[in-house]
Amino acid sequence: MARFRLGSDAHGNWVELRGNRTDEQGTWRFAVYTYHHFAWNLDTLDNQEAVKFDIEGAGYTDVSELKDRTYFKSHYVRTPGGALFELAVTHEDGGWDCDESPEELGKQFMIPPHFEQDREKIMAQLEPITVED
Ligand SMILES: [Fe+2]
Repeated sequence: MARFRLGSDAHGNWVELRGNRTDEQGTWRFAVYTYHHFAWNLDTLDNQEAVKFDIEGAGYTDVSELKDRTYFKSHYVRTPGGALFELAVTHEDGGWDCDESPEELGKQFMIPPHFEQDREKIMAQLEPITVED
């Protein structure tokens, strides 16, 4: 087992990796009880680029271009074993309140514009919840 920390000792900054040579290698497929990716909040675009540079320098070259996700900007890194890591930074022109006021946060189902065409399909897969004011 190997344990890694990124940044401070705060909750969420640790990852434990356990070797398993008996199961199939990981893939990017999504299924029940599997994770799709781990996301790291890297605070600034400069820090994000520095971490990306370090990762590429270590030989992990399957790194995406910078993706604009409306609320944040991210690079995605695929490891040889299939695990996907996201290097995220809150969008300097966006952030979580870029398309609704801070008072309205969490009251509506918000998705980035490029997923709007799938809104009905996405909503149909969700369990209804009640949000109280
Ligand atoms: Fe993510």
